[in-house]
Amino acid sequence: MVRWLRKKKQQAEPAAPSGTSGEKKPGPSGQEELHTLEAAPALQAQLAGTAPQLPVIDTSVPLLTVSGVERSFPVGGGQLHVLKGIDMSLYPMQLAMLKGRSGSGKTTLLNLIGGLDQPNKGEIRFKEHLFHQCGDNERTYIRRKEIGFIFQSFALMPLLSAWENVELSMRMAGIPRSQWKPRVTHCLELVGLAKRMHHRPFELSGGEQQRVAIAKAIAHKPSLLLADEPTAELDSQMGAQVMSVFRDIIETERMTICMTTHDPTIMEVADRVFEMVDGKFVNS
Ligand SMILES: Nc1ncnc2c1ncn2[C@@H]1O[C@H](COP(=O)(O)OP(=O)(O)OP(=O)(O)O)[C@@H](O)[C@H]1O
Ligand SMILES: [Mg+2]
Repeated sequence: MVRWLRKKKQQAEPAAPSGTSGEKKPGPSGQEELHTLEAAPALQAQLAGTAPQLPVIDTSVPLLTVSGVERSFPVGGGQLHVLKGIDMSLYPMQLAMLKGRSGSGKTTLLNLIGGLDQPNKGEIRFKEHLFHQCGDNERTYIRRKEIGFIFQSFALMPLLSAWENVELSMRMAGIPRSQWKPRVTHCLELVGLAKRMHHRPFELSGGEQQRVAIAKAIAHKPSLLLADEPTAELDSQMGAQVMSVFRDIIETERMTICMTTHDPTIMEVADRVFEMVDGKFVNS
């Protein structure tokens, strides 16, 4: 399964920066190469007239830029310095992973990137928005429109079916009711749950529940999908299925995904790995 994912990643590589730990490679001109989508299978199908028209995305312009970010928390009369100067960029259609020991600050950073929290120092630019300067209401608004979250524990409503869970997130994002049905169907099909749409979470396996959570997180068409240890509670086969779904989402929905993981096998399919040690990145 992972071998198949690696192959899939290689196929997608012209559309995304390659290498599990390297930066985007400069082109022959010395400039950063413009990662156009010509070679992506989805676009090939589009050129052949077999797929719906998709917008062209310039993958050389960062979707998100984090500069000099620090975050500390007041603890026991002092300050606990968790993030000590983080710099990173996420590019369109990239699968980026954060790795590091427990307590190194991965979730803290993910919360900042997703606009759930604010840094004490530094800048976070998401598209044209400056998160470090936005008030709570503005960040909440941007988050609802543009960002999707997936958590380790799935975070599904237990009494609602897969379909209703996905529909609920569209309702909360303020998407017109007329769009719900086709989009819910599309998202559940994309994650391979066409035959499980009316099951409730307790009638689904762990991997299926996580795939409902993914459908729920992408239903409102965010440009950035954040996932905190999305495979931690899954066995290796179900974890590989989730990664395969992530690759499909990048290709067909044109989203950027940033996730945390401890699993070295999962990291092999990343376009970019950021390693965090004691609140800073190493090797990046
Ligand atoms: N709101 C908070 N108040 C005080 N300390 C906090 C707060 N949030 C996080 N921390 C501390 O910051 C450190 C980093 O936490 P974080 O959850 O980001 O780690 P992590 O890398 O995600 O770890 P794990 O792999 O276990 O999920 C921890 O020591 C944690 O106790
Ligand atoms: Mg964490």
